[in-house]
Amino acid sequence: MLEFRKGDLYIENVKLSDVAKEYGTSTYVYSKQQIVNNFENYKKAMTLRDGLICFACKTNSSGAILKILADIGAGADTTSGGEIYRCLKAGFNPSKIVYAGVGKTVEEIEYALKNKIFMFNVESFEELDAIDKIAANLKIKANIAFRVNPYVNPDTHSYIVTGKKGTKFGISYEDAVKAYLTAKRKKNINIVGIHFHIGSQILEIESFVVAAKKIKKIVDEVEKNGIRISYIDCGGGLGIKYEKGEKVPSPKCLISEIFSVFDKDKKFIFEPGRSIIGNAGHLLAKVLYRKMSGGKNFFITDAGMNDLIRPTLYNAYHEIIPVKKINANVKKVRSDVVGPVCESGDFVGRNRILPIVKQGEYLLITCAGAYGAAMSSEYNSRPLLAEVLIDDKQTKLIRKRANYKDLILNEVL
Ligand code: LLP
Repeated sequence: MLEFRKGDLYIENVKLSDVAKEYGTSTYVYSKQQIVNNFENYKKAMTLRDGLICFACKTNSSGAILKILADIGAGADTTSGGEIYRCLKAGFNPSKIVYAGVGKTVEEIEYALKNKIFMFNVESFEELDAIDKIAANLKIKANIAFRVNPYVNPDTHSYIVTGKKGTKFGISYEDAVKAYLTAKRKKNINIVGIHFHIGSQILEIESFVVAAKKIKKIVDEVEKNGIRISYIDCGGGLGIKYEKGEKVPSPKCLISEIFSVFDKDKKFIFEPGRSIIGNAGHLLAKVLYRKMSGGKNFFITDAGMNDLIRPTLYNAYHEIIPVKKINANVKKVRSDVVGPVCESGDFVGRNRILPIVKQGEYLLITCAGAYGAAMSSEYNSRPLLAEVLIDDKQTKLIRKRANYKDLILNEVL
């Protein structure tokens, strides 16, 4: 969806320099077709079994993007009352919404129950008690799965490993069967499944398979005790290609490997986030100034760590390309691409060999659709940036750029 035509970078049939001129920078730009294609890949991989593909909306919770996914049949994986609210507004069927998270509040549980979401992925015994009690007050039964920590350690950044012993997530592996026996005795709980999510940006299938096999052992044990587990919720986590040369397994490969671990009568839930929206969104920025310092070049852009925190927080790599193709004979120099925020950690790329583009030119920080806008903030009192959706030749503003008044909107004194 991203290609150069006659020297200009396009997303679908729209020239990115035109987007920059019309909507200003810094701006997130998304390709609708890429989102649809990514989702379709999951759908095709699921055809052999029954189940749901629930978009992990923490990745990107922009209403227009959620609506695209709701319209093509996705479910949603949510992590807060706010996400459930956004998903309902975007048109997701509540019977396709799952809700995980270690710290669900009473208000959030009540909100989820009243809106009849499909299931809670329960992460502690105390949370189970809370859900049972709240469901009793509402005179309904809550569908639950336990999120079980399978104790596997996939190869990814330590901050985004969740299935490893010692992380805060899920019921501990040793307590999993006991949790199901406890839930069986609760009057307002209806057990429907089991859930595991081992981490994010994982590029090897092996860890998923090891986790699935460990979960299968729990399923067998639980079913021996007369408790039926209909749904296997395998979480998200499949990585995307950020850097040249990275090999990325397909959803089909992941899903077929997981299917082979479980019995044929099981239904499945997958919760992809990054692999649906990651390569469908990019951050468009303008070079404000250039300078040489300490032996290297700095491109100072209008995209800061408040707009895209991944490089700062996880040392994440996003390829950066000028939106005008640069002549091969233009000199390339070692450069840091930084933002205007007052921290040395404010960079979107370091030590990149980049052509010396001119002041005022635009750069694209690629594959920033996942955990980009969703993790943006107003740090340094920088108003939240704009978001634009491209659909073939059409460009739509889906979130307008915030202004100075928005910064103080909720201040009461
Ligand atoms: N399901 C659960 C329960 C999750 O916690 C997550 C992500 C997902 C699904 C989706 O995982 P994905 O398919 O996107 O890998 N901010 C970090 C990533 C945090 C991941 C949090 N959980 C980043 O920018 O890399």
